[in-house]
Order: sequence, then C-alpha cells, then structure tokens
Amino acid sequence: MSAGESLYQALSAYGESGFYPCHMPGHKRSPLCGEMADFYRIDITEIEGFDNLHQAEGILLEAQDRANRLYGADETFFLVNGSTCGVLAAVLAVTKPGDEILMARNCHKSVYHAAILQGLRVRYCQPAMIGEYDICDGVRPEQIGQLLDQYPDCRAVVITSPTYEGIISDVAGIAEAVHRRGKILIVDEAHGAHFFSTSEGSAVAQGADLVIHSLHKTLPSMTQTALLHVIGSRVDRTRLRRYLSMLQSSSPSYVLMASMDSCVRFIEKHGRERFAAMRQYYAAFCKKTENLQHIRIGKMTEVSKNCALEDWDIGKIVISVKGTNMTGKELSNVLREKYHLELEMAAQTYALAMMTLMDEEHGWQRLADALVEIDGRIEEKPERTALKRTVFCEAELTMAEAFHSPREELSLEDASDRVSADFIMPYPPGIPLVAPGERINKEALKEIKACLETGLSVQGVSLEGRIGVVVEIPEKMWHDKSEKKF
Ligand SMILES: Cc1ncc(COP(=O)(O)O)c(C=O)c1O
Repeated sequence: MSAGESLYQALSAYGESGFYPCHMPGHKRSPLCGEMADFYRIDITEIEGFDNLHQAEGILLEAQDRANRLYGADETFFLVNGSTCGVLAAVLAVTKPGDEILMARNCHKSVYHAAILQGLRVRYCQPAMIGEYDICDGVRPEQIGQLLDQYPDCRAVVITSPTYEGIISDVAGIAEAVHRRGKILIVDEAHGAHFFSTSEGSAVAQGADLVIHSLHKTLPSMTQTALLHVIGSRVDRTRLRRYLSMLQSSSPSYVLMASMDSCVRFIEKHGRERFAAMRQYYAAFCKKTENLQHIRIGKMTEVSKNCALEDWDIGKIVISVKGTNMTGKELSNVLREKYHLELEMAAQTYALAMMTLMDEEHGWQRLADALVEIDGRIEEKPERTALKRTVFCEAELTMAEAFHSPREELSLEDASDRVSADFIMPYPPGIPLVAPGERINKEALKEIKACLETGLSVQGVSLEGRIGVVVEIPEKMWHDKSEKKF
C-alpha cells in the first residue's frame, strides 16, 4: 500500500497481486462467480494490511480521519448499516435503560426503535405544519428550552434537520438551549451530508454533540454508507464504540467502505465547485418555474414569517399541487410516464424531487420544462379540508412495554380507547399519529380514517383495516410501580 492511496486503489491493487485467498468471502474473487463476478473483485475481509473497522488503526482509521477533517468533527466513524445504525448507537450511547429523552415527533423510525431497545420514556417536541406545503416545520430553540424546563430529567434531545423535505432548524440555537441545561444534542442530519458546503456548515459546526450523515442520500456514495460524528467531550466515546461494535456487522463490507473513502476524496477535490454549479442550476430552475400558475415550488422566501425553519435545502424540490385538480401522486405518475422523470416521493398535495451535487444542468432543465408543460394543463380546485396528521394521544406505557406486551389485532372501531402496540403512521410525512404505548383516542381514529379515505398509505393499519393493540397492561418493566401513569 502506498501513501495517499485510496482504499479503492489499495483493494484493486491487492486483487491484481497474485495473493491466493484461503479466507472469506466464499466467492474468492473468482471470475467463475457468474454475472456479478466483477463486483467481487474488491470485496475482501479483514486481511493483513487492510485494518479492522472495529479497531481501526491503519487504512480505515486514515479514511475515517479524512472524513473527520472534511466535516471538522472530533471523531468520525464509518457506518456500513446506514444512518439507522448511527442513530441507534447515538441514542443508546447517551442513555441508560429507563432514561427519559426529548425527541422531535417527526424523527425517523430509528430514533423510536432506539427508544424501544433502551426502554426509554419519551417526551415529544411536536413541530408545526407549514400550511402552504403540508410539510413539517422546523423545531424552535424556545420550544426545546421550554420542554426541557418542563421535563428536566430528559438526558438528551434528538432532532432531525434537515427533514426529508429539506427543512432546516436553527441547530445553533437549539444546541445552546440544550447545553445551557446540561443535556446532550443529537442531530439526525441524515439528509444533510452535503452541508459541508454551506456557509454555516453542518450541525457539526453548530454545536451538536453527535451528528449522523447518510453519505448515500445526498453525496456520491453507495447505499447504506453513512457517518457518525462526535463533537466535544459530553459523549462517552467508549460507550459509543461499544454500541457501534454491537450494531455494525463483524464483517463490514470493504466495497462500502471504499465507496465512503472515495466519496470523501471526491468531495474534498470537487465538492465546492460542484456545489457552486448546483446553485447555478437551481437558480436557473427557479427562474424557469417562477411564472407557474398552479404548481408552487417550495422555497424559503415563500413561507410565512411565523414558520420556525432557518433555511430550506435547495436539493429538496417540494412541488406543491395544493388547491389544484391534480394530486401529488398524479403529478409524480405523469412525470414518470410522460417525461421519464422518477421522483423521490409523492404525497397528497405535493411530490418531492431530490437533486444533488451530481445532477447536471440537463436534469434540472428536464424537470423545469416538464413542470412548465404540466402547469399549463392543471386547473384550480377548491381546497378540501386539510388533514391534520398530528394528534395528541396520552402515553400509558413506554414503547418498550407496549412492544413486549401480548397483542391482538382489532378493527379501527374496536381499537378505540385501547393502547396501541404499533406505530400508526401516515406516510408521508412519516410522523406517528400514534406510537406504541399510546391510548388511541377518538381524534386519532378520526384522523386515521381520514388519511385512509384520502388514499394515503397508513403504516400500522393492515390491508384488512386492523391495528395491533396491547391485550393487557404488563407490570412496569423499568419503573417503580408507584410511579405516576406515564
Ligand atoms: C431523517 C432520517 N434519518 C435516518 C434515516 C435512516 O437512514 P439510512 O437509510 O441511511 O439508514 C432516514 C432514512 O430515510 C431518514 O430519513
């Protein structure tokens, strides 16, 4: 291995070196492996000279340090199981069984899953909806501060910024509110791995203690690749490492790790220039679409002053058809079938196009041209009553208690006033209407039915329209029985 060589170059050179593999993996990098043989060429295991992710001290440590320098964290870990693994490790590392945390209700399911694994008691910060676009707003520092004052036992705060739709919260303000109260801030920045290129930088530069980035979502890296950054000394890194060693495969893929190293090197070299080009393409896209009559493109400048968001990621193009005779799903179908543009996601009143540093001008132009054409065929339609999609149900059990309880499946009507065993989550926006352990109230049922009638997919409701509820309330698992109802 020579100095400055990338992991990919080292793996390629090794593949050509004549060393015979009397070790895993079973494909032996043999050309006889069939149609995927080419992919196996650089797929090895922890052999001499190639380090070990679980105790990195050589080429993998160097690669992680390179990623660390790019973002300016104090330590960075490669994740081969996506941000999911980073979020789980982060939450588990800063809590103990039975602890309390404060999390934004629009967090990814991995945060909820961490709460189940650790038996956490969860307090929520409910982001408002941005009415113009039917998407979640950011979270305000004052909101977090007030909730921490109300629930001083919370050990840590978890927020998602940017959201799936690109809404960025005031992370610096939130970090200040959290640290002033002696707590830890975890920022799930899975959708913001490209924020190294903004003037403010990512949450790493804004005071978060742990930040998780999916490289694969917004940068040129293979699916499943992600980073976990530690900043400062509030987090016990030994605990973090122990959890990472439990949650990551003991055979992390060298193909994925080479992809991460290569991504970081690419960004070091070309990131700023590509981001500058992206800003230009975005500006041209906005110009082309500025006179649309019916379709609206989500932009920072278009939201009301009362909103909490600090900024809106230009890579997330929220295309709203609210108030027209077209649904987001229909828009996405037309874009696919007629214009061969496949979008990231479609909802009732909007569709989401994801654009990254790797899009070229023609991609942006195709999207803009298609929208201009479609806009000419759309008509206005009186608004239907908006779905609320956020309701408040009282928690009777922790999520872990509900998860471990005996369960039964009931029709929606019969499930009224019962304790849910599952997440009931209209998707999008992917915020649970009801979390495990919460008592399903009438308002929640009404909203679930409204979502189903509108054709939204509601996770947690079976095709037969049944939902899982807890059969009986078990003994409290982690808490004193005399404790007040939670
Ligand atoms: C906000 C957020 N966090 C975490 C994740 C998990 O990321 P990954 O797919 O890299 O595991 C996702 C995935 O969509 C996400 O949207």
